[in-house]
Amino acid sequence: MTIYKDLSPSPRTIMTPGPVEVDPRVLRAMSYPILGQFDPEFTGLMNETMGMLREVFMTGNQWAYPVDGTSRSGIEAVLVSLIEPGDVVLVPVYGRFGHLLVEIARRCGAEVITLEKEWGSVFAPEEIISGIRAHRPAIVAIVHGETSTGRLQPLDGIGAACRELDALFVVDAVATIGGVRVATDEWEIDAVMGGTQKCLSVPAGLAPVTYNDRAEAKLLKRKVIERGLMTAEEAAGRMSGASPTPDFPIQSNYLDLSQLQDYWSPARLNHHTEATSMLYALREGLRLVLEEGLEQRFARHRLQESALVAGIEAMGLRLFGDPAHKMPVVACIEIPEGIDGESVRSMLLGEFGIEIASSFGALKGRIWRIGTMGYSCSKRNVLLTLGALEAVLLRHGAKVDAGAGLQAAMDVYAIGR
Ligand SMILES: Cc1ncc(COP(=O)(O)O)c(C=O)c1O
Repeated sequence: MTIYKDLSPSPRTIMTPGPVEVDPRVLRAMSYPILGQFDPEFTGLMNETMGMLREVFMTGNQWAYPVDGTSRSGIEAVLVSLIEPGDVVLVPVYGRFGHLLVEIARRCGAEVITLEKEWGSVFAPEEIISGIRAHRPAIVAIVHGETSTGRLQPLDGIGAACRELDALFVVDAVATIGGVRVATDEWEIDAVMGGTQKCLSVPAGLAPVTYNDRAEAKLLKRKVIERGLMTAEEAAGRMSGASPTPDFPIQSNYLDLSQLQDYWSPARLNHHTEATSMLYALREGLRLVLEEGLEQRFARHRLQESALVAGIEAMGLRLFGDPAHKMPVVACIEIPEGIDGESVRSMLLGEFGIEIASSFGALKGRIWRIGTMGYSCSKRNVLLTLGALEAVLLRHGAKVDAGAGLQAAMDVYAIGR
């Protein structure tokens, strides 16, 4: 018989673009006893979570709640609920997660039109606006912070262009929410999808989303109430044809925002069973964000970024991509010629317990990615990572300016920016 040992995860310094380290307060929240999902005490916590999500998404939207599942579930929920088969969906792609939007939109039956940029760069908003004018899409979907390339896409003006032409503007803010400004209302975004395991520093498992009345109007047209949840009158109405079924009902049940919003509304119409411990975790994670203050939190992320970047450059390493549009929470480093990137990553983990990431597709083996997100985004972690990276690179025979990286980072901390 196999004897399985007690769970005892090794201590780690997680410097990837997600998942990242979790504040002990969040871990503690996850260990509290379960409440029933319709217990008023629990529904009260759900409402508080909605209120805090509105603040973090910077929106007055009524709907701001988590979908159960990783961030991709939020993306799929928004796209499957909004895309009717045959809808034209415009996706400007500048990295792996743009391709994910394309892939999901296609599976929803959309006619997808892409605009493409070389990985490492972003679009000028005018290029996207011209695309919207040329293709007249029903939906424009784009990634705000593309973790695969470490770029931040400027979004100004795109929402206004969408409104002019009656398109919905959908944004993947999975990697930016809680670390970089995501101004949902100011940027006229109709639906935003966030992630928990990055700048919010909560484990993966929920996907906060928010959407406005324009998006809600579209999904309500496609709403179907489950037969088993209908009242006798509703069921009789359906049998007699008085409540017609929509031409294009939302194709997923689990990810159907029209049903999910009923569950998150005072009606509390039963859908799935809420992931209680994850909800506790998200609530605590959001409380931490708001206690710190959004602007202060963004400033903390920028400061750690400056120190990390100064250290990397002083060591003699090169940053990848267009510097004007670098994501403040991800640094992409070109792997020096002749160095085995995977061997460096595994020595960092094995000798120092520090995890950094590689990348995907064409960038696999070409860059390392270091995240400075949420609870992992600290002076201690940045200094440890720089020191360890220098040591590991020297072991690999790389030419680095020994000692310079840490000094440069410490100079940034000394002046505080
Ligand atoms: C920008 C972006 N979008 C979407 C995802 C998918 O998120 P998940 O792995 O939580 O489903 C990620 C994950 O890394 C991401 O960085």
